[in-house]
Amino acid sequence: MEKLVVHGGCTLRGTVNISGSKNASLPILAAALLTDEPVVVRRVPDVSDTNYMLQILGQLGASVERYSGIVRIVAKEIDSVATYEQVRKMRASICLMGPLLARKLECHIPLPGGCVIGDRPVDLHIRAAEALGAKVEIASGVLKIAAPNGLKGANVELRGDNGPTVLGTDNLMMAAVLAKGTTVIDSAACEPEVVDLAHFLTSMGAKIEGAGTSRIVIQGVEKLHSTDHTVIPDRIEAGTFMAAAAMAGDGVTLRRVCREHLTAVTRLLEECGHTICFNKEGDVVTIVAAKNPTSGKIVTAPYPGFPTDMQAQMTALFATTPGISVVKDTIFPQRFMHCSELKRMGADIKVDNGRAVITGVKKLSGAPVMASDLRASAALVLAALKAEGTTEIHRLYHIDRGYEMIDEKLLSIGAAIERKPDDEED
Ligand code: EPU
Repeated sequence: MEKLVVHGGCTLRGTVNISGSKNASLPILAAALLTDEPVVVRRVPDVSDTNYMLQILGQLGASVERYSGIVRIVAKEIDSVATYEQVRKMRASICLMGPLLARKLECHIPLPGGCVIGDRPVDLHIRAAEALGAKVEIASGVLKIAAPNGLKGANVELRGDNGPTVLGTDNLMMAAVLAKGTTVIDSAACEPEVVDLAHFLTSMGAKIEGAGTSRIVIQGVEKLHSTDHTVIPDRIEAGTFMAAAAMAGDGVTLRRVCREHLTAVTRLLEECGHTICFNKEGDVVTIVAAKNPTSGKIVTAPYPGFPTDMQAQMTALFATTPGISVVKDTIFPQRFMHCSELKRMGADIKVDNGRAVITGVKKLSGAPVMASDLRASAALVLAALKAEGTTEIHRLYHIDRGYEMIDEKLLSIGAAIERKPDDEED
């Protein structure tokens, strides 16, 4: 195991290249199973979640090659049964359901279970499969889905109690592209990652309209073909570096971003007094930290609202921003594990009923802390950059799930950060 050792108090300055999106890559890699022809996907970030996905595709029978961020997949003959061993490592493996069902008309996917950010139900994924005519059975913790008579297009209202579902929309779209007839998804997720998947599928010959709106219409086709696709920039990695630059930077530039995907984060940082400046094309942004930042308020919401995947990092930023800030997560109301670790570093945070109230303190102090999930660990890294003294972040595997070389990238802009072997018990 490894840990990150961060010596706080350095000033970040310089340029960072943002990687391709993890959350766009995962369903796109799964969607490569929809054809027996070769598929090339570029700018796939080298993080453990994409590696798990590629391992699973390999175990299902696909041939997978990976070099310099480029992945080539050929899924000639594939199996339709995923094992618990494969799925338990990564909740997002539920997005194999759509492609396996479309290609094999049956699949077994062990239920991924909950995780530290919440319960993570799959009722909407089941609703999607059933709407297309598949039979779903749950036995011994495994989702067993079969559509022996083929999948048939349908009108599906996909909204759950907490709003639309990103991977649920992806699954339905991936199943519907090879179904007979037309599928209409209402209350579809509008996230840029859903749009990227739709572009990928369209480039394989699928007929999809409306991706990026709450109504997606899919006309089923007989067969999909080979393609070559470049994944969109990771808006959450970009947002995390924007927060780092606002907390501890003096002019940090991020390349390969997409301005449109960063609107909510940009607006919040500007409201807090930081200066965010995009180039004309909107693919390079420079962040200049405010001398006297002000507190802020976040309520997470589906895209284009403020992303739940950025609230932990903003909580870290608010920890040393003067005044009282409030963070409410409506999508994952239990996603506040980072707060107890931030408190150990001196933050003043009260969490109650899906809401954190943060009173900015003058300084945080370095401490040994435990990463509990991907975005919580990013929040701890940000706090550590700002803190006085040294912070050791244990359970680093959480951050390696979704941030490509975060330590190298931070080091290159002036952070004092090192990755070391960790002998602590897990
Ligand atoms: N939900 C249901 N039933 C379902 C599915 C979801 O009630 O069948 C609920 C969830 O419990 C949640 C809400 O719907 O309250 C939205 O969850 P969603 O299904 O959209 O989450 P997801 O698709 O499983 C993706 C990202 C998450 C991100 C969420 C929300 C990937 C691989 N994961 O998850 O990313 O937080 O959308 O934007 O795309 C991360 O990267 O750290 C991460 C957790």
